[in-house]
Amino acid sequence: MKIRPELPIDGPQIERLHREAFGPGRFAKSAYRVREGGEFVQDLSLVAMDEERLVGSIRFTQILIGGKQGALLLGPLAVFRDYSGHRCGLRLMAAGLDLASQQDYQLALLVGDIAYYQKAGFKGIPAGQILMPGPVDMARMLAFELTSGALAGFGGLISLGH
Ligand SMILES: CC(C)(COP(=O)(O)OP(=O)(O)OC[C@H]1O[C@@H](n2cnc3c(N)ncnc32)[C@H](O)[C@@H]1OP(=O)(O)O)[C@@H](O)C(=O)NCCC(=O)NCCS
Repeated sequence: MKIRPELPIDGPQIERLHREAFGPGRFAKSAYRVREGGEFVQDLSLVAMDEERLVGSIRFTQILIGGKQGALLLGPLAVFRDYSGHRCGLRLMAAGLDLASQQDYQLALLVGDIAYYQKAGFKGIPAGQILMPGPVDMARMLAFELTSGALAGFGGLISLGH
């Protein structure tokens, strides 16, 4: 399996992947609504390829936290169900986070299961420090520091960062 930048021709297959992974309920999620209207960061959008088949995808959106730049929202991350168990999700995250850390980003956030995302280096956020517009289970809001100690420098409401 190889990871490469997402290309325009990958669009339909990524859409299929998102339909399979998230289902129709995906449009109602708070993370989805934060991203709505925002653009994915093009050079952080990656796909995982097994030979000619697209098996996974990761994208990021720039966000502001309390009006401050330098943060990303990770997602969607998805891997086709019949391809799970190849560490594809972890490898996509590692590659995306590594690229982001080479740019000017300091922090990446996501909403997800700590049991999985701690394997990629994510950790919990102190209650109330960062707020998502819309309902979100705060225990599922996680952060990855792209620069050491970055989390302490961010607080407040998340909004789209453009
Ligand atoms: C979540 C998802 C991206 C994981 O991708 P994957 O390539 O199948 O997972 P990986 O191979 O990277 O998993 C590596 C390890 O994490 C474990 N793992 C996978 N999903 C897990 C979960 N939800 N909770 C805890 N551990 C999990 C695996 O068992 C494996 O464990 P190991 O290190 O002991 O072998 C994929 O299952 C998926 O697309 N799910 C549906 C969409 C989704 O929920 N996306 C995330 C929200 S944006």
